[in-house]
Amino acid sequence: MGGLGKTTLARKVYHQAQVRSLFDGFAWAYISQQCQPKDVLQGILIYLTSATGTEKIEISYMREEELVKKLYQVQQEKKCLVILDDIWTTQAWDNLRPGFQLGKQQAKFCSQRAIKMWLSMRIRKAFSMSHGI
Ligand SMILES: Nc1ncnc2c1ncn2[C@@H]1O[C@H](COP(=O)(O)OP(=O)(O)OP(=O)(O)O)[C@@H](O)[C@H]1O
Ligand SMILES: [Mg+2]
Repeated sequence: MGGLGKTTLARKVYHQAQVRSLFDGFAWAYISQQCQPKDVLQGILIYLTSATGTEKIEISYMREEELVKKLYQVQQEKKCLVILDDIWTTQAWDNLRPGFQLGKQQAKFCSQRAIKMWLSMRIRKAFSMSHGI
């Protein structure tokens, strides 16, 4: 469901000081329908490593397998919060998933569906309270 406030909520969480104190690396990626997995992974790696000019160039030359390997490495070293906003197809997620294969204990995912359900519950509760039902 569009326009429910998922991005707004995720943005608030992403920038909240308490949340920031729990992680060492941060990345926000907007997954448009046209974007290539390689470009998304490059962008995430640049964010997570706070890459400088030369490092950005090095990352831009990496093949997809190298990016996946490097992302794995970085996420082993640092606790990272990565937001993949607007993934609408399982295909898009399947393409990006290799960059986040960290084992069940380490990688935690919160799907768009879960956020939607949580938001719907909050909205319903707020509506019930305001109407005294
Ligand atoms: N709590 C809120 N109160 C008022 N307006 C809000 C609230 N949360 C979001 N909005 C507004 O609702 C609109 C849609 O929000 P947002 O882009 O976060 O939705 P979305 O669920 O991510 O939509 P989409 O599925 O299209 O990506 C925006 O204009 C935003 O400013
Ligand atoms: Mg959105």
